[in-house]
Amino acid sequence: MKPNTMNLERLIIQGGTPLCGNVAIYGAKNSALVLMAAAVLGKQDIIVLENTPRLADIEIMADVLRSLGAKVRFTEHHTLEIDPREINKTMAPYELVTKMRASFFVLGPLLARMGEARVSLPGGCAIGSRPVDIHLKGLEAMGATIEIEHGDVIAQADKLVGADIHLNFPSVGATENLMMAASLAEGTTRLYNAAREPEIIDLANFLKAMGAKIEGAGSDTIIIEGVKDLKQPVYYSVMPDRIEAGTFMIAAAITKGDVILERAPVHELESLSVKLREANVMIETIDHQTLRVQGRRPILATDVRTMPHPGFPTDMQAQFAAMMALAHGTSRITETVFENRFMYVDELQRMGANIRIEGNTATIVGQPRLSGAPVQATDLRAAAALVLAGLVADGETIVSNLFYLDRGYEAFEKRLAQLGARTCRISTSAQKSEAIGTY
Ligand code: UD1
Repeated sequence: MKPNTMNLERLIIQGGTPLCGNVAIYGAKNSALVLMAAAVLGKQDIIVLENTPRLADIEIMADVLRSLGAKVRFTEHHTLEIDPREINKTMAPYELVTKMRASFFVLGPLLARMGEARVSLPGGCAIGSRPVDIHLKGLEAMGATIEIEHGDVIAQADKLVGADIHLNFPSVGATENLMMAASLAEGTTRLYNAAREPEIIDLANFLKAMGAKIEGAGSDTIIIEGVKDLKQPVYYSVMPDRIEAGTFMIAAAITKGDVILERAPVHELESLSVKLREANVMIETIDHQTLRVQGRRPILATDVRTMPHPGFPTDMQAQFAAMMALAHGTSRITETVFENRFMYVDELQRMGANIRIEGNTATIVGQPRLSGAPVQATDLRAAAALVLAGLVADGETIVSNLFYLDRGYEAFEKRLAQLGARTCRISTSAQKSEAIGTY
């Protein structure tokens, strides 16, 4: 998503306070986005998504659905109502798709519902080139013709037919796009080497609530038997956000705090918890949705390698690196999912971190302290990593490009402040600084 130049808000953080208290985890951005796209498949009823987070990305997906003819509105703070019955357009506009790559998720459902779909190619983004070839090959295997014209993907199919599809990488977005398209295809589709992320299971459960027939979600083989219509009215609660939860876990750990996470997806946090324990963080499972996280010193240097689920999530890589910047010893962080996810490193160095990048590996020599500095977020998770570093750095850290943070974390600094962090959002959009929150 590209920055909005009008958004000149910055976050000022006075570091050094251990975070203590309880925080409830909100719904998963990545799940809500794809469930919204899946709503395109419904022709006869309104769909209600509970536990939908209030984020900039969700607003963009709502605009994409509106541009297709759907009605979308929040009826309560976290309850989103989508009426897809009057969807009558087949084109997702360039302005929206370039703002957010996940807009591309409407390609499969739109094609399945309308027989054609025109969606702009998302292009590169801050964390890498991010092609969509796996999405397109899968749709072709189901009988679609695909053309690229004037920067748009144009997909057409009088009818989609089930197929055996081998993904050459377990892409989350491609698995989701193909599951949605296959739900209305004629016959059976088998996705091999499918992504196994928890959001895939959430999508399968949602589609099944609409009447789809899906087996195997969460494993590497997903079998979808196409149905004629998806019609049951759906009330569905979005799963909790494992990345938001993980970020709060590191906030507790890095500040030597003591935080209880409520409504957390405990099971889905396993690969992160293993690494945090290795780093000397105390994690206690209170029940299936409650975790207690206590930070201790020293933080121990711990190597991680990002991998598709159930491996260590790439969306937690930057936040983990911020913690390793303060570890006792040297750690190595290897990024295998995206090609360009070390953009935050230069900014962390400005705060005193010692990090060397070679290829896809960051070698981090832990330092006894970080010092507050003005820094710029370069993407969503980079923004989170800089806020985490600011929470523990000496003095004042000012994080700019907050727009990135707002893509994926609802009211983040307010919830940190409720745990004791000293944060203040300021706006410089009206020429002069204007405090939006207080310490
Ligand atoms: C989703 C998540 C993102 C997360 C990522 C990996 C959403 C909205 N976003 O992104 O937060 O970091 O999964 O867990 O759910 N690739 C191809 N060709 C394709 C598709 C992907 O080469 O057609 C490559 C990508 O360039 C990347 C890798 O596969 O290197 C993983 O991408 P993918 O799993 O598709 O991520 P997204 O679905 O875009």
